[in-house]
Amino acid sequence: MERLTRRAAAASLLLTLLLGMLYYITQSIRVESLEEVTKIPADGRSDTHSRVSDVRLTSPDHLQYKQPSVVHGRTDVVSVTPWLAPVVWEGTFNPVLIDSIYKPQNVSVAVTVFAVGKYIMFLKSFLETMEQYFFVGFNVHVYVFTDQPKDVPEVRVAAGRQLTVRLVPSSKRWQEISARRMELIQVLIEETLHHHDYIFCLDVDALFHGRWGAESLGGLVAVLHPGYYKDGRSRLPFERRPQSRAYMAPEDGDFYYCGGAFGGSLQEVHLLTKTCRYNFEADAREGIEAAWQEESHLNRYMWIHKPSKVLSPEYLWQDFARRNPEIRIIRFSGIVKNYADIRPNV
Ligand SMILES: *[C@@H]1O[C@H](CO)[C@@H](O)[C@H](O)[C@H]1NC(C)=O
Repeated sequence: MERLTRRAAAASLLLTLLLGMLYYITQSIRVESLEEVTKIPADGRSDTHSRVSDVRLTSPDHLQYKQPSVVHGRTDVVSVTPWLAPVVWEGTFNPVLIDSIYKPQNVSVAVTVFAVGKYIMFLKSFLETMEQYFFVGFNVHVYVFTDQPKDVPEVRVAAGRQLTVRLVPSSKRWQEISARRMELIQVLIEETLHHHDYIFCLDVDALFHGRWGAESLGGLVAVLHPGYYKDGRSRLPFERRPQSRAYMAPEDGDFYYCGGAFGGSLQEVHLLTKTCRYNFEADAREGIEAAWQEESHLNRYMWIHKPSKVLSPEYLWQDFARRNPEIRIIRFSGIVKNYADIRPNV
């Protein structure tokens, strides 16, 4: 009898041990797969030194400008996020003051734009309006990625501004072009890290209509999507399938950000592109493509790594959208286009 209970005790001890091990193993697998989604590449931050000094906001003595108020300001929009990042709207900043702070820093701003396939038709007016409105008086270096370098238009640029053409292979699917953007931006940053302070990655099928300047600078910069900035979480078009690394649970999400405009310091955008590319490719190996490709992965990234500056939809409006009263100025806006005419596949 005693031997039997001892045996039973030993057996139950063994079972407990086995169950414990099993639990440990499944838990560590879970943690690993979660980490994959939000992984911070080991060499993302450590090997670089920032040239950016947005912590020291030095302004000239005796600069004349309207006294700011802390009790009067815009009341129709929110100009700060719950993690205390500014949300940039017309009327929340003084452009003269902003320029007087950032111009002496001699910052260099890189821009990437993809003009692949028929999208080359948008490049000329993009570049011409950019010259008029985007970081006027600053060092701006535009990198045009195209499969048709001969068709890149000649656009006269002011001193301190330049354009470089980078050749990319043509692609039959626009989803593929979109997917490779992250990789191409990542590689560009690795090659030009010491030449620029900030980078913005912009859609080519859009025009500038108003100032886009140094008020938009920040470590990690996201633009509120014009189509969803008033909507509740359940209406935001995040990736909803848990199998994807861009997955957002129903109770997740701050805002829905644009894939058509984002930026920040070179270090931060490098980490973003590297992570999104990794997750996109890992998804692809498992046969899954997120609902809005890179935009879905970008939104997942920005949920975990909160942007330090959020730009209002003034910074990427859509020409076909009705202008809402809180939109006092449109700075950059997507042009109306017929997808069937310009995409290699729909
Ligand atoms: C400002 O930056 C540009 C490159 O972006 C450089 O060529 C120039 O020498 C710099 N000027 C000063 C005064 O540091």
